[in-house]
Amino acid sequence: MTRRVALAYSGGLDTSVAIPWLAAEASAEVVAVTVDVGQGGEDMETIRARALACGAVEAVVIDARERFVEEYCLPTLQARALYMDQYPLVSAISRPLIAQVLTEVAQSLGAGTVAHGCTGKGNDQVRFEVSIGALAPDLKCIAPVRDSGWTRERAIQFAEDNGLPIDVTRGSPYSVDQNVWGRAIETGSLEDIWLAPDADVFQYTCDPAADLGVDEIVIEFARGVPVSLDGRSMSLLSIVEELNRRAGVRGVGRIDMVEDRLVGIKSREVYEAPAATVLMAALRELENVTTDRDTARFKKLVSDRWADLVYDGLWFSPLKTALDSFIAESQKWVTGEVRLSMHAGFALTTGRRSDHSLYDFNLATYDNGDSFDQSSARGFVELWGLSSRLAARRRPVV
Ligand code: ARG
Repeated sequence: MTRRVALAYSGGLDTSVAIPWLAAEASAEVVAVTVDVGQGGEDMETIRARALACGAVEAVVIDARERFVEEYCLPTLQARALYMDQYPLVSAISRPLIAQVLTEVAQSLGAGTVAHGCTGKGNDQVRFEVSIGALAPDLKCIAPVRDSGWTRERAIQFAEDNGLPIDVTRGSPYSVDQNVWGRAIETGSLEDIWLAPDADVFQYTCDPAADLGVDEIVIEFARGVPVSLDGRSMSLLSIVEELNRRAGVRGVGRIDMVEDRLVGIKSREVYEAPAATVLMAALRELENVTTDRDTARFKKLVSDRWADLVYDGLWFSPLKTALDSFIAESQKWVTGEVRLSMHAGFALTTGRRSDHSLYDFNLATYDNGDSFDQSSARGFVELWGLSSRLAARRRPVV
């Protein structure tokens, strides 16, 4: 029996060229697997037809948008995970899901091999292969672009020689990866890290300088899960899609940074993540109101470690799973509403309320009704500063 290879197929040049290449070099029947994580752009049926025209024996498209949002974006939101304090892990969280779906399809088809189109310079090869290994340690994995050292020119030549139906003139100068959680843009003019991004880099966000006035929103959370927008109960996917539109129009969620890749390279990355930015800001404020200080401080440590693990391809790993339990527990009382006003690239919190609020008006107020016992503060401050006074007496500051 001819061996079967399940290929993670995006519809682009590299994965299209990989189909006839795998068929010839690996003497395999190629099954193209396209996972819809809300990348938009081309219609999924067009992508499927292209895979077949390139020689795939079968091409499947799997709508994984709900699963992506519920099982990948939501934990990222609840962790408030930002790699290097900025990047909301847009691509880093889609790779383990694509690997998971690819593995499931491979197993259902009896394919013992999977393939992906990543190069050797990025993080995504690591995320795919480490995830596949963690889910199905016996599956073999091929990376034709990386392992046979293709250049873009060679890929184009191969496509022309083999009459593949790919319009290479459509190619953008940037390398783009996008899904419902955001959009990642690299290469082209962005490789000069002093140059400001051209306007054509952006698609999810409008120019923050365009004065469109304020858009005010109220987001409701139940145990850390966004459940309604402006009083309308909605699925998480719909909330993310609507926030991408509304915050995107006001230029919210642009990030321009030099990032440390796992493979040791520093690279310039531009991201657009309107919904992720707004949801993280709202959740942070609700946590400020509902979470005690020790838990909040410890969560920051957990979030940073969680972000590093996920960035580094360790979504399916024992430590990540253990940290997930902490994060889930931390969300137990994160229920309530946050109001934000979106304008000129910012989403500013203007109000918050919660039945589980730890904010006590009578303790906080400086007006009548103050229930705080100021007399107990004196002794507290005395003891709090004791060790500092002691040290200063023994070792006077010079
Ligand atoms: N640097 C980001 C990451 O590693 C984005 C990678 C996006 N991939 C791409 N082909 N543009 O998560």
